[in-house]
Amino acid sequence: MIISASTDYRLAAKKRLPPFLFHYIDGGAYAEHTLRRNVDDLAKVALRQRVLKDMSTLDLRTELFNEKLNMPVVLAPVGLTGMYARRGEVQAAQAADQFGIPFTMSSVSVCPIEEVTPAIQRPMWFQLYVLKDRGFMKNVLERAQAAGCSTLVFTVDMPIPGARYRDAHSGMSGPNAAFRRYLQAITHPRWAWDVGLHGKPHDLGNVSHYFGEPIKLQDYMGWLGNNFDPSISWKDLEWIRDFWQGPMVIKGILDAEDAKDAVRFGADGIVVSNHGGRQLDGVLSTTRALPAIADAVKSDLKILVDSGIRNGLDIVRMLALGADAVMLGRAYIYALATSGGAGVSHLLHLLEKEMRVAMTLTATRRIADITTDCLVKDK
Ligand code: FNR
Repeated sequence: MIISASTDYRLAAKKRLPPFLFHYIDGGAYAEHTLRRNVDDLAKVALRQRVLKDMSTLDLRTELFNEKLNMPVVLAPVGLTGMYARRGEVQAAQAADQFGIPFTMSSVSVCPIEEVTPAIQRPMWFQLYVLKDRGFMKNVLERAQAAGCSTLVFTVDMPIPGARYRDAHSGMSGPNAAFRRYLQAITHPRWAWDVGLHGKPHDLGNVSHYFGEPIKLQDYMGWLGNNFDPSISWKDLEWIRDFWQGPMVIKGILDAEDAKDAVRFGADGIVVSNHGGRQLDGVLSTTRALPAIADAVKSDLKILVDSGIRNGLDIVRMLALGADAVMLGRAYIYALATSGGAGVSHLLHLLEKEMRVAMTLTATRRIADITTDCLVKDK
């Protein structure tokens, strides 16, 4: 039974998914120190309880880049979402749409852009990786724009994929990976029936579209390694900024100096992120990185943050530390893997309830009222 958003969906997803997929989602880079720090540092942020303030009316709505959000939450881009639930990108996007928040499609999604946008009302956000093949980048941006995507999320913390040792252990990569994945699939019949059999095609929808041939899951890890571009610099981003008509958000900022560069570059927003602890193990948690970044650029652009956010209290903590909104990664993916779009809808309602409790007991009626005043100051 799902009672707590933060733990129950994770355990349910672990039961349902073949291990190679569960560990691909759940794992982080190297020894996973940053993965743990993200969650632990955030949980340690103490909220300041206030009482007897007539908190009968709360307003969780906010606005980002001229879009209205019913809660300051955006679904983060997550690669291979269509492997965790049948046509998973469509299901997640619909749940976000019904709730009234944006869904961000990953460049390396299973469903192509054109399969998702007709299934939702509000504009989708689209995430772009820096690839060596600039032709792919241009093609996918044109398609995202033609499909009505509003905001471009440009991920810059993956010039090279971080080593995720769990993937080699679990069969996502490593020796005999295809055979091990097959064995795991047939021993997880609910996933095998729902996604394995009925969720096809299992390829990178956006990438296959460009290359004119299916880029399959067995090629995925090799494809990432061969195509990501370590030579990227701010200069290379200029044509994308000039090409993209809507707001542009730089995802993967962890340092105040880089945040200032994003302002100089003309970004409309940043996502303070360490990629959920999946890139450079040992870097700061976003909880610890965020305050200095907010001090440096809060008045210049919108600040989103992700990595380690698992419940509604965490959302309030991040807003109090200086974010305008948060992105959810694993939290919604565990729910999606457990029960599809219905799971994501349920999760969003649980988060909303948790936020309401936190706002009531920190005496904050509106999102804009959530400031450092809601936190216990360390002596
Ligand atoms: C990701 N993330 C990610 N980010 C991105 O910009 N493009 C992508 O394709 C992916 N793919 C991806 C796959 C999986 C399985 C995970 C868990 C994450 C990172 C994601 O957008 C976000 O930054 C983190 O998930 C945030 O951390 P939490 O909330 O998962 O702790």
